[in-house]
Amino acid sequence: MSLLAIGALLSLGAACVHAQAPLYGQCGGIGWSGATTCASGSACVVSNPYYSQCLPGAASPSSSSSANPVPTSTATKPATSAPATTVAPPTATCSASLTKRATGKLSHVGVNIAGFDFGCNSDGSCTASGAWPPLLKYYGHDGEGQMQHFVNDDGFNTFRLPVGWQFLTNDAMSGTINQTNLAIYDDLVQACLNTGASCIVDVHNYARFNGEIIGQGGPSNDVFAALWSGIATKYASTPNVIFGVMNEPHDVPDINMWADSVQAAVTAIRKAGATTQLILLPGNNWTSAQTFVSNGSADALKKVVNPDGSTTGLIFDVHKYLDSDNSGTNAECVTNNIADAWEPLANWLRCNGRQAFNTETGGGNTASCAQYLCQQIAYQAQNSDVFLGYVGWAAGNFDPSYVLSEVPTNTGSTWTDTSLVKACLAPVSGSQSGSTS
Ligand SMILES: *[C@@H]1O[C@H](CO)[C@@H](O)[C@H](O)[C@H]1NC(C)=O
Ligand SMILES: *[C@@H]1O[C@H](CO)[C@@H](O)[C@H](O)[C@H]1NC(C)=O
Ligand SMILES: *[C@@H]1O[C@H](CO)[C@@H](O)[C@H](O)[C@H]1NC(C)=O
Repeated sequence: MSLLAIGALLSLGAACVHAQAPLYGQCGGIGWSGATTCASGSACVVSNPYYSQCLPGAASPSSSSSANPVPTSTATKPATSAPATTVAPPTATCSASLTKRATGKLSHVGVNIAGFDFGCNSDGSCTASGAWPPLLKYYGHDGEGQMQHFVNDDGFNTFRLPVGWQFLTNDAMSGTINQTNLAIYDDLVQACLNTGASCIVDVHNYARFNGEIIGQGGPSNDVFAALWSGIATKYASTPNVIFGVMNEPHDVPDINMWADSVQAAVTAIRKAGATTQLILLPGNNWTSAQTFVSNGSADALKKVVNPDGSTTGLIFDVHKYLDSDNSGTNAECVTNNIADAWEPLANWLRCNGRQAFNTETGGGNTASCAQYLCQQIAYQAQNSDVFLGYVGWAAGNFDPSYVLSEVPTNTGSTWTDTSLVKACLAPVSGSQSGSTS
């Protein structure tokens, strides 16, 4: 039976018993007005104050009444391991390639530390001089202190470190790394590594160099491969570095040719000796999680392989914001993305035995974003067999007044997080069950 047919049956089933939420459906949380009891064989489990979900297991009499807790002290709540039940992945739509079980716990949870990407535009134009290292020694913000705080106080374990291609080559449209500039960027990478976290090297160029698309009129795949060979050579024996092949490709005319460019980068990274690290593979449409499957990125990128033919360590890179135009520029959030993006993506990943990493998400420091982002994160954690985790956008050199700021403020030795970091993003907040315990 086709997935669509099964999905249709499930929807029908849900519609017939609207008094009860279906397995894996939402059954409570602040702002939830739908069913608060769960289909037979499942129980309503609180993930966080904003999201309760029907999970496999016998319902207990009090389970539905606990689904709408009063959110008194979420921000300071210590790490929890909710839900207590071991979570089995939803199997209804695919049983073909299940190899892992969801643990309810995301392996990689972090924050973007922006600055080296400043001056990059979405046409891939950046200037080396526009890069602003988020480190005190280069007159930036204290990115090192931010990362230490995020690890030690909040339980984060991953940072994404965006950098413009132009900075790495000192403005040359070439794959030859400028070692002076790489050493400056490496100061941030080392500050990240020193916290014990995983550190994503993210080339923040939108599949382009100064307006021209890689492999499709712009720099050749060989040039792109040389760039990645140079980066991977430096980090070949650093297991905690993750290679983010490209930030947010968009309007790339030929997705299969783009997959060839990604393949060139993967081959170069592995041949440089970085044989074990994770590599993030980005699709079209700004790496939209919502259209990764429907717009053809999934089918094109699933063919990208390691030199040995395997796909070990090759993780799909997806972004998703929660505002009305999905741009990540508005303070208010309007969706948790579950039905439109995360659920169909999870099904595809499971059926294909693959995983994805949500390396950009976030919202304003508002009540609506706290509600929806907490729901999104809880869903990702329930599906941790296919989702590695999420990385919030953004801290680093942003001004604290930036609409999506996750920049913590520092007074004396005390760091204070933004409200969204406190409510949802920080693993200690309990939106998911933590990643570093
Ligand atoms: C590398 O970049 C620096 C600027 O950071 C520049 O002064 C230097 O000439 C560049 N080196 C090469 C070999 O291009
Ligand atoms: C890109 O993704 C967004 C949602 O993330 C969607 O609304 C839009 O239609 C997509 N555009 C294309 C060209 O697929
Ligand atoms: C993806 O979106 C583009 C529009 O940007 C469209 O031209 C193309 O046909 C879509 N591809 C698929 C497979 O849906």
